[in-house]
Amino acid sequence: MSKPVKNIVLFGFMGTGKSAVAGLLGERLHYPVVEMDDLIEEREGMLISRIFTEKGEAYFRQRERELVKDLSREGGKIIATGGGVVLNPDNIRDFEKTGIVLCLTARPEVILSRVENETHRPLLEVENRLEKIKKLLAARRPFYDRIKDRIDTSDLSIEEVGERIIARPCSKSLFNHEEHEVHEGI
Ligand code: S3P
Repeated sequence: MSKPVKNIVLFGFMGTGKSAVAGLLGERLHYPVVEMDDLIEEREGMLISRIFTEKGEAYFRQRERELVKDLSREGGKIIATGGGVVLNPDNIRDFEKTGIVLCLTARPEVILSRVENETHRPLLEVENRLEKIKKLLAARRPFYDRIKDRIDTSDLSIEEVGERIIARPCSKSLFNHEEHEVHEGI
């Protein structure tokens, strides 16, 4: 059996479904799932929120950058990026070398409903979350728009998003030949 050659890399704002979809794709495609935020917390030995308060956002972005370099060296993984990884164009370019790159999107109100009960995102620990989400989305739009393959997850289930990704013509290159033939024969 040949080794899968590519990663699937999910970009997108907080609450667009990156982690949930990555988990589903990992199960369906039998690929290991990498959560960038989890790996940074492991490497740094502290939670993201603490990294932000103690070391600052710029330090966090540097750790993200280092991790992108490491993860983009070879394929075979589903990677859920953090919502701000897109802010450095080098990160997109590196991931494109070894991966299929997609951007998940969602309407601000949907994002709010998905993150409402969570407290682990330092950028959303503010009085008016909806306003902050809209502001950040507007500022980041040109960065997310650099990724041409986008899926609006607002009205889709995790399964539906996963199916759309698997059905993408580019995803065919993810399956090694033997497995692909078996799937097609069923
Ligand atoms: C961030 C998104 C978070 C996390 C950090 C910063 C951002 O990841 O990396 O809080 O700048 O959008 P998720 O998108 O997984 O919540």
